[in-house]
Amino acid sequence: MLNIAHLSKRFHQNLVLNDISLTVQKGEILGIIGPSGTGKSTLLRCINLLEKPESGHIEIGAFSMELTGGNRRDILELRRRSEMVFQQFNLFRRKTALQNVMEGLIIVQKMSKSKAEIIAREQLDAVGLSDRLYHYPQHLSGGQQQRVAIARALAMRPEILLFDEPTSALDPELTGEVLDTIKKTADMGFTMLLVSHEMNFVRSIATRIIFIDGGKIVEDGPPDEVFNHPKSERAREFIAKMNRLSGPEYVI
Ligand SMILES: Nc1ncnc2c1ncn2[C@@H]1O[C@H](COP(=O)(O)OP(=O)(O)O)[C@@H](O)[C@H]1O
Ligand SMILES: [Mg+2]
Repeated sequence: MLNIAHLSKRFHQNLVLNDISLTVQKGEILGIIGPSGTGKSTLLRCINLLEKPESGHIEIGAFSMELTGGNRRDILELRRRSEMVFQQFNLFRRKTALQNVMEGLIIVQKMSKSKAEIIAREQLDAVGLSDRLYHYPQHLSGGQQQRVAIARALAMRPEILLFDEPTSALDPELTGEVLDTIKKTADMGFTMLLVSHEMNFVRSIATRIIFIDGGKIVEDGPPDEVFNHPKSERAREFIAKMNRLSGPEYVI
C-alpha cells in the first residue's frame, strides 16, 4: 500500500531523516512515536511533499514517484492519495464547516457542487457534526474544528490518512471526542499513520508502532512488544517517561 525507500531530509546541517525506509500494509494503523524534534512531522510532511527531501522514493497503491522530482501532476496525484490532519486544524476561516469539507471535492476532484454537498453532509454527520454545518471555525470548539478537518480528509477518500499530533492543540476535555473520531476512522479500515503523544491511545488503536530517534526507525513492531519490551535504551527511557506523564487510561 505505502512504500517509502531511502528517504533523507536535512534542514541545513541537521540531518532529520537519515535514509528511512518503511512499508505500511493496507488497513494498518501505524503509530509513530519518539522524542520531540525527532522528525515525526517531517516524515509525514515529506510523504505529502509539504517538505522536499534530499532523497526518497514513494509508492502509494499503483502510484510511484521520486520525492526529489515529480512534476505538478505527480505532486497532485500524490496528495490525492494521502490526506493530512494537522495539529492546528488548518481550516479555512471564512468558510463554514460544510464549505470546508466541500472545497477539496469541488476544486481538486472537480465534483459538482450538489454532489460535493451530499458527501460533505454525510462526512460531517459521521463525525457527529450534522448540527454544525453552517458554523464558521471561530464559532466551533477546537475539538469540533478538528472533527471538521477529519471529515474533510475522509471526504477525499484518500488511500492513506496522516495524522500529525491531532489532539495536541486541544484542551484536555476536548481530546476524547477527537480520539473517538479517529478510533471510528480506524475501524472503517483506513490505512493510517498517526503521530501522537497520547500514548495510551496510540497503544490501543495502533496495529504497529515505530519509534523514531536520531533520524532512524529504532523500534518497529506490535504495540505490546514496543511498549513492553523495547530493544533500545532510548525507547525504554522515552516510554517510561511518557508513562509517568500520561493521564488516565483512554477507554474505548
Ligand atoms: N522548516 C524547518 N526549518 C528548519 N528546521 C526545521 C524545519 N522544520 C523542522 N525543523 C527541524 O527538524 C527537526 C525535526 O522536526 P519535526 O519533524 O517537527 O519533529 P517532531 O515532529 O518529531 O517533533 C527539528 O530539529 C526541527 O527543529
Ligand atoms: Mg511534530
